[in-house]
Amino acid sequence: MTTNAVILDPMTLAGEEIDFDTRIRAAKQALGDRLVILGHHYQREEVFRHADFSGDSLRLSREAANSKAEYIVFCGVHFMAEVADILSRPEQVSILPDLSAGCSMADMANLAKVERAWRELSQVLDVENEVTPVTYINSAADLKAFCGSHGGIVCTSTNARHVLEWSFNQREKILFFPDQHLGRNTGYRMGIPLEQMVVWDYDLPMGGLSEEQIRQARMILWKGFCSVHQMFRPEHIDQFRARYPETQVISHPESSFEVCQKSDYVGSTEFIIKTIADSAPGSRWLVGTELNLVNRLHQQFQHQGKNVHFMAPTVCMCSTMFRIDPPHLLWTLENLVEGKVVNRISVAPEEAALARLALERMLAISP
Ligand code: 13P
Ligand code: SF4
Repeated sequence: MTTNAVILDPMTLAGEEIDFDTRIRAAKQALGDRLVILGHHYQREEVFRHADFSGDSLRLSREAANSKAEYIVFCGVHFMAEVADILSRPEQVSILPDLSAGCSMADMANLAKVERAWRELSQVLDVENEVTPVTYINSAADLKAFCGSHGGIVCTSTNARHVLEWSFNQREKILFFPDQHLGRNTGYRMGIPLEQMVVWDYDLPMGGLSEEQIRQARMILWKGFCSVHQMFRPEHIDQFRARYPETQVISHPESSFEVCQKSDYVGSTEFIIKTIADSAPGSRWLVGTELNLVNRLHQQFQHQGKNVHFMAPTVCMCSTMFRIDPPHLLWTLENLVEGKVVNRISVAPEEAALARLALERMLAISP
């Protein structure tokens, strides 16, 4: 394949009259099986259609671990490309087409704050024997490494329950970061009462908790949240059901406790897709997850007479997932065709080894 002698940068490409689809396909063809493109369900359609494999965080991390391709181009967010780097072989290269595609929830926890929490908790508890640290996969590699080195584990929205069960078998308490909602929603469904799940405010000494609160807690939940899923409110469900009483409500567990309590089903993006795919023709769904996925479900199932609606009245998309656009994907691929790796994501070997430990514990117990 011949590409431009000079490959334009993504910003310039975005302003050009370019047939992105055709050029992305040509670059993919030129790279053949040296390349795999992984696409998260929240990716915009113009990018998603080029993915060789799509999935939720768990499925994509398995694809990354099993891939033989030299280049893993991750159409998702930063922590996903880090996981691909950690789980793939050293000679494979993980790439994020736009380095500014982060995750605001992942950024709500960092190593300094988690280590401080661990130190402060150790003033009240024998942390190494009493607390299992669990990080949601939406977190930086050094937090996964922290879990790896303290007998902890990673979870995704698909396997959170299995991971919490495993964790409680190790030690009696869990420190769960960064998403309080996934922790609370999963813990509650396992029978842990709300009063035994306390919120650790990482800006306050001792997380803003008394010694008594820490001692009686089974789960200590980091005060993090997803800015997209926090937009869904219980009143959105009430208003929609008042209009369409036959509606079935399905939400991602990053949504608030009140929204999940009012939902008929709660689960990962993969679970949401499967549940709607398996539903009866003519059914009506109110969906509490990111807009690009809900729009795709609407398009995909409308011919079966299924009605798929977005939960919030306002547009709430994951703006960082949206940063992966055709200009960035094309720029990445055409550089690879020219033999140049751009936007490589690589995790330092010692950190990667500890993070891999926590990820492999998760993969070993995942359904
Ligand atoms: P899933 O693993 O369910 O796809 O969720 C990832 C995510 O970032 C949801 O906000
Ligand atoms: Fe992060 Fe929320 Fe975007 Fe998922 S939807 S990547 S949790 S900001």
